[in-house]
Amino acid sequence: MIGYDAKQRTLTLSTRSTSYQMKIDGTGVLLHTYYGPRLRGGDLSRLICPEDRGFSPNPYEVGLERTWSLDTQPQEYSSSGVGDFRLPSLEADLADGSHIVDLRYVGHTITDGKYALEGLPAFYGEGVAAQTLSVALRDPASGLVVELLYGVLEEYDLITRAVRIRNEGPAPVRLTRVASACLDLPAGEHDLITLGGAYAREREPVRAHLTQGVHSAGSVRGSSSHQQNPFLVLCDRDATEDAGRCWAMALVYSGNFLASAEHTQFHETRLTLGIHPFHFAWTLRPGETFTAPEAALVFSARGLGHMSRLFHRAIRLNLCRGPWKDARRPILINNWEATLFQFDADKLCDIARAAGRVGVELMVMDDGWFGERNDDFTGLGDWNVNQKKLPGGLAPLAERINGLGMQFGLWVEPEMVNENSDLYRAHPDWAFQAPGRPVTRGRYQLVLDLTRPEVKQYVLDNLRATLKSAPIAYVKWDMNRSLTDVWSAALPPERQGEVYHRFVLAVYEILETLHREFPDLLIEGCSGGGGRFDCGMLYYTPQIWCSDNTDAIDRLRIQYGTSLCYPCCAMGAHVSAVPNGLTHRSVPLHTRGVVAAAGTFGYELDLNELTAEELDQVRDQIAAFRTDWELVMRGDYYRLGDPFRAEEPFCAWMHVSPDRSRALVGLVQTARHANPVRPLLRLKGLDPDRDYRVNGRVCGGDELMYAGLALPFLDEYEAVQYHIEAV
Ligand code: GLA
Repeated sequence: MIGYDAKQRTLTLSTRSTSYQMKIDGTGVLLHTYYGPRLRGGDLSRLICPEDRGFSPNPYEVGLERTWSLDTQPQEYSSSGVGDFRLPSLEADLADGSHIVDLRYVGHTITDGKYALEGLPAFYGEGVAAQTLSVALRDPASGLVVELLYGVLEEYDLITRAVRIRNEGPAPVRLTRVASACLDLPAGEHDLITLGGAYAREREPVRAHLTQGVHSAGSVRGSSSHQQNPFLVLCDRDATEDAGRCWAMALVYSGNFLASAEHTQFHETRLTLGIHPFHFAWTLRPGETFTAPEAALVFSARGLGHMSRLFHRAIRLNLCRGPWKDARRPILINNWEATLFQFDADKLCDIARAAGRVGVELMVMDDGWFGERNDDFTGLGDWNVNQKKLPGGLAPLAERINGLGMQFGLWVEPEMVNENSDLYRAHPDWAFQAPGRPVTRGRYQLVLDLTRPEVKQYVLDNLRATLKSAPIAYVKWDMNRSLTDVWSAALPPERQGEVYHRFVLAVYEILETLHREFPDLLIEGCSGGGGRFDCGMLYYTPQIWCSDNTDAIDRLRIQYGTSLCYPCCAMGAHVSAVPNGLTHRSVPLHTRGVVAAAGTFGYELDLNELTAEELDQVRDQIAAFRTDWELVMRGDYYRLGDPFRAEEPFCAWMHVSPDRSRALVGLVQTARHANPVRPLLRLKGLDPDRDYRVNGRVCGGDELMYAGLALPFLDEYEAVQYHIEAV
């Protein structure tokens, strides 16, 4: 999978369908020569044609040769200050005040298995063929050694990258930019796709022609954010779901990030992805190492759909961990939209009883069970049970829920504190606040400085105590504001640029400890809906609440955008009441069920308020999910329509079993016009040589994919599902 050709000095990474090549140039610069469909062999550096370009300087050792310049060479990890004027991968303030980093090859190793990163989430190689390449580069003048790590997970066409930087020089160095990956691609006209959005409108695909200059997406909110996602795709301008070349990168990280695409003077493209340089400054004393988070790369020659499916499988099987990663998740009911903060044990049991009767398996108590938490002004940080609402604590409630035949779970928001809390009154300095400045509130709450060991310990102790106090099967881990006033009393002024990253590391450390100590606990990530939906969190929480927006029609868009990178089994999705609290729209219960069943599936309403007929429908939905979950979770996901296209009156998708013997199609009519055209729905992913039963009729897979299904006339917001089975 990883080969070194000593004669050509090329290193080639091969996956099932892709090749990735780099070459150690005579100057010692590590050049990037190829990433695309799998090749049999060859030295692709022949594609680099050195020429004398104006204003492209030449390194000292090439003498009077004007054709060799870092400015025009495709690099594996770009330098700074020595002639490459494109995006640098690494920037540092060196002891002498200079900022120059000139990286040259020192050596490499190839080992079996996939590397792991200390304290950081990463794809793992267990259960699949995996190898690691480590290439050492060195800046001779400063003594900075850069270790480029590459993980190859052959069957997923996945190449991961990470970077370790060690200071082997005599003086401290401050790193101010460390990309996790840099990818230089040859000249071409491309589109760039990123995931934009907002609160309640997460992960809206943004696609634009890449033109000369730097185009970027990023977050400086301390978390990966609702507004941008640490994921980007460069693709052919005519790339579609099913055709065209796509190079995609996802960052396995949950904090500030920057994803950039630079279209150069020669129409080449440089992609970089890593921690956002905004207020990032990491001091490396002699002998110390900094590790940058992992980036995951996928190349698809078969369009965006195939690209997504590669990510989906790799994330589900080799990023998510624990017993839940590939198992059916409990069908849950959450009380948030039904009660907000106004509940007590009896009310929760009423909701649970009605849910248990129709087959729901887990009752989740949301925000409001602790401290004086009767509104969002109060109580965060006080993780003691509110005895007025829940007399006797969590255990009696959990037992009552268990007695109804259901498991019990609860909501926490460990990273936060309200000013109106005992914790804040005792330790006002534990919240982020810069000296001499007032605090900036977000949802009336402040962020705990988890970089301080005593604060991290407090949070961990409270979580542990809570989890041990009752039979708790599930936790919803929320994070309801962006970081501001980022300043830590634990670090000297010159190290404040470490706080954002150290905060993320602390969150990971707490989650890792819980993963170890409570191995069976299912944790669902959440950040005001999907404000921290990224590969970093998925390492600890195999599902993430996709959005606070539970309107089924809006959800079509949110789940569509999310599916570009993330699998259905990661998408927290619930049926909620109508009219929807955020959109005021009423969508039929059946449709709400069809949309939620394309994710983890659950309910977020009081079923006592449903009619007998509606409850029968809920029973049917639950029974259907119990039959279909495996298709949704383990099947290949195909997007059949784009809910962002105004001219498309429906949105459809399908899940196909890996052996292509079964499939489930979901379709929602998003608009209805008078005397409408009748579109055909062409299916995907079936075996053209097999026959399938659909709607009581047997049709060829070829027929279903190439000719299609004739759709019935549906009312606006009506939905249908097609169960397809090979005969
Ligand atoms: C966030 C979550 C919601 C709910 C509330 C509780 O907004 O996304 O699902 O848990 O917090 O305060």
